[in-house]
Order: sequence, then C-alpha cells, then structure tokens
Amino acid sequence: MTTQSAAQEQLLSEQRAYYSAFAPDYLDQPLDLPGGGEPATALDAFRPVGSVLELACGPGTWTPQLLRHAADLTAVDASPEMLAIAAGRVPPGAPVRFVEADLFGWEPDRRYDVVFMGCWLSHVPESRFTSFWSLVAAALAPRGRVFFVDDHHRTPEELVEGPASSTVERRTPDGAAYRIVKVPYEPAELERRLRGLGWDITVTPTAGPFYWGAGGRAGESG
Ligand SMILES: C[S@@+](CC[C@H](N)C(=O)[O-])C[C@H]1O[C@@H](n2cnc3c(N)ncnc32)[C@H](O)[C@@H]1O
Repeated sequence: MTTQSAAQEQLLSEQRAYYSAFAPDYLDQPLDLPGGGEPATALDAFRPVGSVLELACGPGTWTPQLLRHAADLTAVDASPEMLAIAAGRVPPGAPVRFVEADLFGWEPDRRYDVVFMGCWLSHVPESRFTSFWSLVAAALAPRGRVFFVDDHHRTPEELVEGPASSTVERRTPDGAAYRIVKVPYEPAELERRLRGLGWDITVTPTAGPFYWGAGGRAGESG
C-alpha cells in the first residue's frame, strides 16, 4: 500500500468512526437550511418503487419515506450504531434488510430497481468517484433508476485544510474531533461528471446548499 492510499484508508476509517460516535445525536442536528424540504418532495415525485437499495442509510433518515413506495428495501451502512437506530424507525414487519458493510469493499448480491443515497456522495473521496459509480451500476437492474440527495454545506471552522481540500474536521457534541470527506459538488458540474461516466442524471439545485439527482444509465429511458 502506498503512503497516499494508507492515508486515505486512515481518513475513511476516521469518517466511519465519526458517524458511529455521532449516531445518537445525528437526528437532533438542526438542518433548517434553505431548500431543506425540497428533496423530500422530489423523492416522493420520483416514486422509488420496486426493490430499493439505500446506500449509507445512517439512522434511517430516509428509510421510512422509501418504505412508503418500495416493495422491499436493503439498507447498507458501516456503522452498527446507525443501523440500530434505523431499525428502530421502521414499522415492525417492514420488508427491509439492514446490512452492515463498508461501501468501499461491499459488492451487491443482487440487483435493484432503484439505488438511493442520502447525503453520501459528498463523503466519497474524489479518487473513488468512478469506482463508486461502478458499484451503483453493478447494483442496478436493467433500466434501474438512481436518486440521491446531498448538500455542499461546509462551515468555515471545519475547513481545517483550507477550502480547496475535501477533507474537513467535524466534532461530536463531546468535543472529539474527526476528519471526514466532504466534497462540495456544484450541481451542474456533478451532472456533467456523471454524464462522462455514462449516466443520465439530472442534478437539481435547491434555494440553499441541498441538491438532488434523479435518472439512470444514459440510453435507458423510463
Ligand atoms: C451523512 S450520513 C448520511 C445518513 C443518511 N443517509 C442521511 O441522509 O441522513 C453518512 C453515513 O455514511 C455512513 N458511512 C460512512 N462511511 C461509510 C462506509 N465506508 N461504508 C458505509 N457507510 C459509511 C455513516 O455511518 C453514516 O451513516
């Protein structure tokens, strides 16, 4: 392993540790930024029906909404603490399978009609962008669809390596500091990059830092 890839493994491990430590407080964070409600409305309009794969489900922020549409749902996250909270937020007997896995090593064991990601893409290092989208492609059935929600919100205090770096510092309520990845995508640039990888995904900005993407593989309509 090169020094550079060892450093990135360390950063990704710290990112996993941050979210595990933050899990009990995650749903309490104030997210009243402009445009925050628009992606939820867009997700209902998208109608994530059929078999749905939710990547980095966290504490089930979106899982109950997905279950309003999905026939069945597989929700993957690296953090057992997050998964335990998510499991408590779905109705008993809901057709959901929770999987604890590191998405940078995980391979889907089946294909899905929809792949959904809530606030995950911005935590994928740029160097893994292409391989991550290969995972999405491998998980999608023919004519499968993708929906993601994300934001490019970064506070001045967390830019400990400067605004040009995608590594930021986050703190848990007890003050412990962790480095995580936060890539501040601009929607138009993200859409163009995805087109270059063979995706036809429209990335829509909101009035604030949030955006959402909806689409599928280029050349596969509907
Ligand atoms: C910003 S939270 C998003 C949670 C939820 N989807 C939402 O929209 O609120 C990022 C999630 O990614 C998970 N995560 C971090 N690194 C991961 C990895 N390598 N593999 C899988 N999940 C990971 C964290 O545990 C956390 O639940």
